[in-house]
Amino acid sequence: MAAQKRENFGGRLAVILAMAGSAIGLGNIWRFPYMVGEHGGAVFMIVYVVCTLLVSLPVFLAEVMIGRRSHTNALDAFARLSRQHPFWRAVGYLPILIPTLIASYYSVIGGWSLEYFFKSCTLTFVRTPADQVSGLFGAFVASPWAPVLTHLVFLGASVLVVAGGVKSGIEKFSKITLPALFVLILVILIYSVSLPGAGEGVRYLLHPDWSELSPRTFAYALGQSFYSLSLGMGCIITYGSYVSKKENILTTSAGTAISDLLFAVLAGFAIMPAVFAAGIEPGAGPGLIFQSIPFVFAKMGADLPLVSSVVSIVFFLAIIVAAMTSCISLIEVGVAFLVERARLSRRAACRVLFGVCGLLGVLCSLSFGPLAGLQIFGRTVFDFLDWLCSNILLLLMALLAVVFVGFVLPRRVPQDEFTSRGRYPFNARIFPVVYFLIKWVAPIAVVIIFFTNFNL
Ligand code: PHE
Repeated sequence: MAAQKRENFGGRLAVILAMAGSAIGLGNIWRFPYMVGEHGGAVFMIVYVVCTLLVSLPVFLAEVMIGRRSHTNALDAFARLSRQHPFWRAVGYLPILIPTLIASYYSVIGGWSLEYFFKSCTLTFVRTPADQVSGLFGAFVASPWAPVLTHLVFLGASVLVVAGGVKSGIEKFSKITLPALFVLILVILIYSVSLPGAGEGVRYLLHPDWSELSPRTFAYALGQSFYSLSLGMGCIITYGSYVSKKENILTTSAGTAISDLLFAVLAGFAIMPAVFAAGIEPGAGPGLIFQSIPFVFAKMGADLPLVSSVVSIVFFLAIIVAAMTSCISLIEVGVAFLVERARLSRRAACRVLFGVCGLLGVLCSLSFGPLAGLQIFGRTVFDFLDWLCSNILLLLMALLAVVFVGFVLPRRVPQDEFTSRGRYPFNARIFPVVYFLIKWVAPIAVVIIFFTNFNL
């Protein structure tokens, strides 16, 4: 993706939109709400905001700096800036491995969204009584065929787009669907908080129960924050390499982080009240939105069947598009690597990725049904892969990025990048604080959290 063209983004808004496009995805709308539900509600939200501002934003800045300075793809960036140091050359392979693993289970969720889109089109939610609608999910994921099929269809469609090259069409499309998703989530939020019994959900998000706070909360909040900002997988390094030398990276990075944060919080407030109104357990795990959102549609359907059907169709379509644009960028990393380094044709590389991600994804999908008993370190295949990526590999990669900027590069390099060679006096003034966060706070926080993870 990165090596052939070395264009720059058109301007500040284009950079923020592109980065926010990568950041805002299933991570915000599917993963964040169930993480909140599993890890103590309001407490998790607060820890999440703190982690994002104090740790993830500095990591984000460090990755943009690496990308913009090296002006190349994630694999070569570390090698180039370290002058081909063997250790840092090897590090470059991690951002190839991680997105490929994530694409495998990401497309399983993409498949679920596809199924829920079909269900909306066939008016299932409007026709099913509200108290039974959340039960549809369990039956669907436990069946051996349907979720495997939707996963393969979703992955296949994403791979096909990658095989044809990412055309401007899909990018333009996602620029429309992303704001649409924003509006739709607001509509659902308003409806969801007005449901009887929803107040409990709002209280759950606003009143922290500090007894829920544990090292585990920090570990999962930081992992979630990295995941949501597409950190630790070479994505932001690659995007950073397209940012013009004149751009103020503080504005673009903070803009991206804040819109991502806002979207996650909105999704939390749209989904949690519905969870309580439907009487679903907040810690229900990965199926949470697929159980709670249809309940909203079923309730809405009782009063306004037409509106409910249209909103549900558009809503799941927007999720599919948001998920697919993210999935495409995840697959593209592996494909670009196989094309440039293993000299495969683009088609062959796509076939390899379809094979690898398809197979791993099938195992993830079956882990909700027939393979539920197959456990790795006490987790199902799906949970293990998600945990390995979000709580181990992303942290490791992010740690390497901040250590690289803080300790391997001479101080003037991040300083030049952060101030765009002295162009922005405000940035110059706050640079010592940012440098301190990158050099000390972020690595220490990540190391502590990394080790807590092994005791969870
Ligand atoms: N950040 C995306 C999300 O929140 C996931 C993703 C990571 C997508 C990296 C692309 C690249 O869903």
